Amino acid sequence: MTLLALETSCDETSAAVCRDGKILANVVSSQIKLHAEYGGVVPELAAREHLKNFLPVAQSALREAGITAVQLDAIAATQGPGLPTALLVGYKAAQAMAFALQKPFIGINHHEAHLYSPWIAGTPPVADFAAFRPNLSLIVSGGHTMLVLVESELKHRVLGGTIDDAAGECFDKTGKLMGLPYPAGPEIDRLAEQGNPAAFDFPRPLLHDRNDDFSFSGLKTSVRYFIRDHPDLLQDAQKIRDLCASVQAAIVEVLVKKTIRAAKREGVRCVTASGGVTCNRALRRELERACQRHGLTLRLADKTLCTDNAAMIGILAERKFLANTPLPPLDEEIKPGWALA
Ligand code: KG4
Ligand code: ZN
Repeated sequence: MTLLALETSCDETSAAVCRDGKILANVVSSQIKLHAEYGGVVPELAAREHLKNFLPVAQSALREAGITAVQLDAIAATQGPGLPTALLVGYKAAQAMAFALQKPFIGINHHEAHLYSPWIAGTPPVADFAAFRPNLSLIVSGGHTMLVLVESELKHRVLGGTIDDAAGECFDKTGKLMGLPYPAGPEIDRLAEQGNPAAFDFPRPLLHDRNDDFSFSGLKTSVRYFIRDHPDLLQDAQKIRDLCASVQAAIVEVLVKKTIRAAKREGVRCVTASGGVTCNRALRRELERACQRHGLTLRLADKTLCTDNAAMIGILAERKFLANTPLPPLDEEIKPGWALA
């Protein structure tokens, strides 16, 4: 089957064409530059930008895939969670297309889609579901940090999540305190490569708690007070690199240790990770080391598929369609607060 998927839950306008588990095209238009001057995503601007971009993005996905809209067998879109006005654009556009083409429509949970992005691998990306196995999945982005047990395809259980800030938010906000541009996550990653992760000691929140929850707001506050008490640090380029490496080490240690602990407790042999923060080199390295040490197989989403994209929406939609999962009625609304169960 050939399917077009749209993703507009936050600040990426994306369209993908999937056929029989393969990605024929995955076009992503990022709005990062637009929101940078505000230091974060402005929902109204995001929605207007999606409106401007979704048609050219969808058209270029169809062109890249070498097909026209009438050749599509189904349409899918992110139904939630996400920014309401941003979701509305892609979801309603996709519903209208399905209505016009008289094709099935599939509404997808954005987080559930992240669970499957590590199974889309290679260049060009090819869905490798033959290798699928029960796994402990870390979803770590600007809006979310969660651990999910994926028992089998399309069957999962959320084990824990952040009780306050997400890990990506912690990267972005602490970077802002250091004067780094938005989003600071990639910049911290870059500077930390030449910094000393043991230079400054920051808290590892909830590291020793028995649950699978995360909390990063205390770490953010601790960096705020540290910078307030040592303002001279920010005048020294090497000290900033050390600060980046130290903050990153605290975030990464919590993410890696809690992920491995949950994987061992749940008895799975495979760990996966996706979401924007999975681009972080230290996190990728440390997850690799830890999984190797504990005899676990690791599948990391390809860096191009860590951040929000429609390919993961399309791949999941196709699996759901083929599994005869009930489809929502064509006039169903978006679900901005749709929590993964
Ligand atoms: O998944 P994503 O594109 O959007 C959502 O938030 O859903 O993730 C964006 C987040 C931002 O907080 C960004 O700073 C973070 O991912 N990020 C990184 C890196 N690349 C992106 N954080 C740390 N290191 C990176 N290399
Ligand atoms: Zn996401």
